[in-house]
Amino acid sequence: MTKQIAIAASKGGTGKTTTTWNLGFGLSLAGARVLMVDCDPQDNLRFIAGLEETSNTLAAGIDGREISPASVRESLWLLPSGGRRLMQSLGAADGLKSITNPLRQVLKSRVDGESFDFVLFDCPPEFGKVTSAAVSVSDFLLIPCVSTWLGLRSIEQMIEFVDTHTRDARIDSERTGIVLTFYTTRRGGPEAVRQEAKKLFKSRVLKTLVRERTELDYSQEAHKSVFEYSPSSDGAADYSSLVKEVIKKLE
Ligand SMILES: Nc1ncnc2c1ncn2[C@@H]1O[C@H](COP(=O)(O)OP(=O)(O)OP(=O)(O)O)[C@@H](O)[C@H]1O
Ligand SMILES: [Mg+2]
Repeated sequence: MTKQIAIAASKGGTGKTTTTWNLGFGLSLAGARVLMVDCDPQDNLRFIAGLEETSNTLAAGIDGREISPASVRESLWLLPSGGRRLMQSLGAADGLKSITNPLRQVLKSRVDGESFDFVLFDCPPEFGKVTSAAVSVSDFLLIPCVSTWLGLRSIEQMIEFVDTHTRDARIDSERTGIVLTFYTTRRGGPEAVRQEAKKLFKSRVLKTLVRERTELDYSQEAHKSVFEYSPSSDGAADYSSLVKEVIKKLE
């Protein structure tokens, strides 16, 4: 059965896209068929994947057209957002159902006659229409949180929102994971933030810490995953640990 994961946070620049990209790769390297869906008009996943602009986008899907995802690597596909077109489609969408229905169609889609094991939704940095829709069609909400006090504060607000607004979305504490990103031991701060996060969110905080590492940034410019760009780096080790933890959570 296909497992859906929404990667979302109301704050910008927390590592959502980096996490979608490397988690997607890691899951596919572990043998799964993975589809990444870019729900953000910034269209960053298409750039990172090094794909040309296409009319096969989430925007086209929301407009009611047939879509088929682009192949990125063996066992890994991407449905780009459509950039500004997505903003227009979301603006014209009437009610949440006009977004959740096309997302459900995407989830049912097949490539080479076979369905996906995982569908990952990379959400924009806000809790607007498309994030709400992605969360409500997902089995698991993964929240990348920058290891700073303001990062933590934004997660408090987001968890409150999830707890109060998405009850029917099957997203409860068992189905939410917070992954701390941009973690560094150079200053005392991030470790204190990690301890506070554990106090506040308990088992929702994943064991994996994604350290602040340049290979995560540089690999994107090279249109590669961190596993391809620098297989023995800390960045590859951290995302490999995240892949294992997410697989276990969703078993
Ligand atoms: N752990 C990390 N260490 C170093 N750089 C990172 C790390 N994670 C992400 N980055 C870099 O930080 C920038 C922001 O990351 P990313 O785009 O993944 O965040 P985002 O949450 O998707 O942002 P947005 O809210 O704009 O969608 C990117 O340039 C990315 O390469
Ligand atoms: Mg992003």
